[in-house]
Amino acid sequence: MKINIFKTKEELYKDVANYYINVLQKKPQITLGLATGSTPISLYQKLIDAYKQKLISFKSVTTVNLDEYIGLSSIHPQSYRAFMNQHLFNHVDIMMDQTYVPSGTIDPNDAAVQYQELIKNHPVDIQLLGLGGNGHIGFNEPGTPFDSITHIVKLAQETRIDNQRFFKSIDEVPTHAITMGIKEVMQAKEIILIATGLNKADAVKAMIEGEVKPHVPASILQNHPQVIVYIDEDAASKLRHK
Ligand code: F6R
Repeated sequence: MKINIFKTKEELYKDVANYYINVLQKKPQITLGLATGSTPISLYQKLIDAYKQKLISFKSVTTVNLDEYIGLSSIHPQSYRAFMNQHLFNHVDIMMDQTYVPSGTIDPNDAAVQYQELIKNHPVDIQLLGLGGNGHIGFNEPGTPFDSITHIVKLAQETRIDNQRFFKSIDEVPTHAITMGIKEVMQAKEIILIATGLNKADAVKAMIEGEVKPHVPASILQNHPQVIVYIDEDAASKLRHK
């Protein structure tokens, strides 16, 4: 794991955006694994800016997202498909039919099998990850086996509470989601994980310095040969070795 610690979020996002800009310039025909949530928004904004400045194009890019809520259609404002359209896809020259997000509305088991196939057919070059306060990656909650492939999960109550901020009330937060499995995340050639803020400090410490165990899903990243972690000083504050 390569760990990059930044004084400010601005410096962090500038650096990680430059990393993606370089990669996209060198390899325009790339498959990017993408994430939703608060963490990637500033990165996506910087990539939109770079596109508008004609530094990069998404014309030949394929994207594969990590997860989706079960029960939310693609036009539901809190669906992850709508999030991706709003925060990235609608603002760049990507081919919409090359953007993949698991379906939250078809039969969940069918959706999982379809997505497993899709990932096989579109191996991810760089997987972007945020980090749950409980150490989850994608919606792989603590205890998920490391050999899991795309599956349906019952969301941990702390995850529903964390995500309540996007909904009117906790009752509206879906109880289940479909997520890429840990085994599939680990198959990406390269992984970039971003975490900022004090509320991620415990999870960051467990991910980097803790034992590799299913109770901390992100700890498996210690076993991946090509991981870059981008964290700010708050998220890094509990690390023993900096
Ligand atoms: C989102 C996802 C989640 C988030 C994590 C952090 O697609 O898979 O694992 O990355 O919950 O969420 P934020 O960024 O909102 O703190």
